[in-house]
Amino acid sequence: MKFDVLTLFPEQIEENICKSITGRALSKGVISLKTVNMRDFCGNSYGKVDDTIYGGGTGLLITARSVYDSWHSLFEKDDDRPYTVYVSPKGSVLNQQKVIELSKKKELCIICGHYEGIDSRAIDAVCDEEISIGDYVLTGGELAACVIIDSVSRMIEGVLPNEDAFTNESHMDGTLEAPQYTMPSEWKGMKVPEVLLSGNDAAIDEHRRTSALVETWVKRPDMLDKLDISEPEWQKMLALRRTL
Ligand code: ADE
Repeated sequence: MKFDVLTLFPEQIEENICKSITGRALSKGVISLKTVNMRDFCGNSYGKVDDTIYGGGTGLLITARSVYDSWHSLFEKDDDRPYTVYVSPKGSVLNQQKVIELSKKKELCIICGHYEGIDSRAIDAVCDEEISIGDYVLTGGELAACVIIDSVSRMIEGVLPNEDAFTNESHMDGTLEAPQYTMPSEWKGMKVPEVLLSGNDAAIDEHRRTSALVETWVKRPDMLDKLDISEPEWQKMLALRRTL
């Protein structure tokens, strides 16, 4: 999958994405990353990408031309335009379902605002959607772009060492992942649940399902409303919760 990022701070994106798992995916060619510095498309010799806001207001806006021309530098034929996202606190909030949806795109272009953002006409002209990474405000879109690239990349085949690494994890089936433990089996008086040491795969699977539901119940009760939990499952959850 190809990622393009339109930004004023390309190194902030590259420093993040070229490391660890995404860095390895880049080296293997499973994903690619192209950053475009919008300053290179500002249309003037002194590199001014932003200007004051019509009607007044504090701060500066990145001009529509800088955004549009840098976006258009990514493709020649209209058929080749990448799926384009503007990251901003006004967008719909990112979740795992959206991450999976984005991971199916051939090419994803992420536009990062800075200062007060970008001229709204550029958003209307080029963006397919606006995405926020949460209800708070960042100084720019670069961290949000990195969050999207990281979360989307790990859904692409060949990025994680094995597919199980993400099929069982939090948010993939609407629950949080069950608590996990490693050696030793007892630490500071706290014991790993007996069943996890039993070697009985069916019992372990059942415990993990119940434990994931209890984890969700305790930490994110809002998520339980969307799940279809059977009566026997509720009974097992209640029994497990009583032991905690
Ligand atoms: N830019 C500034 N704040 C943001 C947010 N919460 N999500 C995405 N992009 C942003």
